[in-house]
Amino acid sequence: MDQDKIKAFAGKVFEDMAGGMAAGLAYVGTRTGLFRAMSGNGPMSMDTIVLASGLKQRYVEEWLNGMVCSKYLEYDPDEKTFELPDEYSYLLASEGSDHFVGGLFYALPMMLGVAPRVAAAFETGGGVPFEDYGEDGILAIDLMTRGLYEQRFSDYWLKSIPEVHATLEKDGRVLDFGCGAGRAVLAMAKAFPRSVFTGLDLDKSSIEQAEDSNRQSGPLDNLRFVSGSVSDLDPQDQFDLITVCDCIHDLTDPIGVLKDLYSRLKSDGTLFAIEPKVADHLEDNINAVGSIFYGMSVFHCMTQSLAAGGPGLGTCLGPAGVENLVRQAGFSRFEVLDIKSQMNLFYAVRH
Ligand SMILES: C[S@@+](CC[C@H](N)C(=O)[O-])C[C@H]1O[C@@H](n2cnc3c(N)ncnc32)[C@H](O)[C@@H]1O
Repeated sequence: MDQDKIKAFAGKVFEDMAGGMAAGLAYVGTRTGLFRAMSGNGPMSMDTIVLASGLKQRYVEEWLNGMVCSKYLEYDPDEKTFELPDEYSYLLASEGSDHFVGGLFYALPMMLGVAPRVAAAFETGGGVPFEDYGEDGILAIDLMTRGLYEQRFSDYWLKSIPEVHATLEKDGRVLDFGCGAGRAVLAMAKAFPRSVFTGLDLDKSSIEQAEDSNRQSGPLDNLRFVSGSVSDLDPQDQFDLITVCDCIHDLTDPIGVLKDLYSRLKSDGTLFAIEPKVADHLEDNINAVGSIFYGMSVFHCMTQSLAAGGPGLGTCLGPAGVENLVRQAGFSRFEVLDIKSQMNLFYAVRH
């Protein structure tokens, strides 16, 4: 055996374990408001941080030590001060912005919390149903995408399909299929007051949260939410735009749902789909994003579909997989849109 290879791999195992712990500590920092309490304050003593956070001294102390070792905080051993650099704060303490990364940390306990059940499913089959991830699951998905949807959906992403943008400025009809906590459809309904929007999701708790957010914003009178599937919509309802965000790979009956969506899309309408940014071949996904997405697939996306008797397509469906499904459902035009994003790919699909 190659001793250097063993040594190098042992180093990687420690780094990965350290990464897991860093992400867990960062989850605590996000959830308790510790990053927020340190944001913009420069070097701070431990006592000042405890006071600013309102949290228990001993927990904060150990968290600070761990975050220093994980290189999320800078430490001055002479002054015994801790600092969250502005550049880190930009990512860690920027809730609601399109550069906030805290949603990823929220996803970690939500997914790893079911790891024993997932491991058991490797032997027994089945999986973990979507609703078993609970309110924290909905919150984590919401936190991962909220800032992006609010800041980029209408002004940037939809502008890449000019004819759709123009229709929405006049009087479009839009369905957000699998709307989850509703941020994308809320953002669109705010941006295009002359168009009419429906958010649809099978999951009742997600729809309740979406309705709650809508109440807090007004509510908007051009937006309604429906709990259920496509067959629960008004039979006459036809749409100029159907958005399907981070959903296709999760579906239990992907071709059946896409056929239903085909029948609800006007003949000159567009289905706009957002899916994780992965390549079609495993060898092209050997990087941090690939590692995150395959983990998310095993601990959530694939597993919740298998739990419901679905095919378990998984997070890394990729462009060829999406194209294959939409063509089987009857769509003839498939385009990968030229939108820059670290984690997502965007598709325009038409009759
Ligand atoms: C990963 S979440 C994405 C939520 C939201 N679109 C977002 O981007 O934040 C997938 C959503 O699809 C919904 N979903 C899955 N299958 C569905 C179906 N057949 N009909 C309606 N909603 C469905 C789930 O309940 C879940 O809320």
